[in-house]
Amino acid sequence: MHLIGLKDLSRREVIAYLDEAEQFLTGQGEVSTPESQRNLLSGCNLGLVFLEPSTRTRVSFEMAARRLGATTMLVTEEATSRKKGETSMDTCLNLAAMGFDALVVRDLDRQLPDVLAERLNLPIINAGNGSGEHPTQGLLDALTLRRHFGRPDGLDGLSVAIMGDVVHSRVARSTTYALHALGAHVTLAGPPMLVPTPADGWPARIVSTRAEALAEADAVIVLRIQSERMHGQLVDAADYAHVWGIDETVMTEQMPSHAVILHPGPVIRGVELTDSVIDHPRSLILRQVTHGVAIRQAVLARHCPQASRE
Ligand code: CP
Repeated sequence: MHLIGLKDLSRREVIAYLDEAEQFLTGQGEVSTPESQRNLLSGCNLGLVFLEPSTRTRVSFEMAARRLGATTMLVTEEATSRKKGETSMDTCLNLAAMGFDALVVRDLDRQLPDVLAERLNLPIINAGNGSGEHPTQGLLDALTLRRHFGRPDGLDGLSVAIMGDVVHSRVARSTTYALHALGAHVTLAGPPMLVPTPADGWPARIVSTRAEALAEADAVIVLRIQSERMHGQLVDAADYAHVWGIDETVMTEQMPSHAVILHPGPVIRGVELTDSVIDHPRSLILRQVTHGVAIRQAVLARHCPQASRE
């Protein structure tokens, strides 16, 4: 009923989500909803509870829901009684009491999706819980790589580097779990204070330099420095760009010539990637965003109640 994270999903389960998403994409990779699915969620009242900022996830969930005929209501922090001191949990419990059929929830609190799933008898879809997980991002990253490399049955042996602020990244977690389940080899890299240690148990190799991360990568997923989760710890943007950023010279000299660049967004131009890399033919960043709509359609189709309601 719920989608909280990808950590425990099997290869078969990840592939099932990706296969379901394919029906919402054309062969050229554009979003498309088959006629038979356009009223799939008719009568479903979906609450989009975004208590942390979001552009891509919020709008693509809303677009996905509407493409399937659901009614959506958006709740953002600025317009709620969170401003008066109400907890995120109470906000969600009150929304559920109004009769929503499912809630998509983004919040700073890592425990919130699990707490809600335990307390509420309606589907909870995690749209990002602090530095916990971001399951639809993990799935859309896997779908993007699967499509780009033409590997419908898995990503066995594909080498994927995830580089930047890994420890604070829910994207890094969910994407690592999805790619690992599909057989890819994941390498994590970033400044020492921003990468996990082997003891943290990530199913990935950990390296300490950009050159090591990039040398054999088929794909590089670049992350933003998440200052909002760093409790005042400062990273100098110019230093970071010099040591960990990717410009066209780094692309040419340190990456295999077929390797592609991904980024979950928002990109801080000139820090982790230069303009010309963001817009490079080997950048899949906007393709990720398009695939995000298809993945969210697949997730809503799977998790939301489909019986017609008043
Ligand atoms: N990738 C991602 O989660 O972007 P938003 O924060 O804009 O939703």
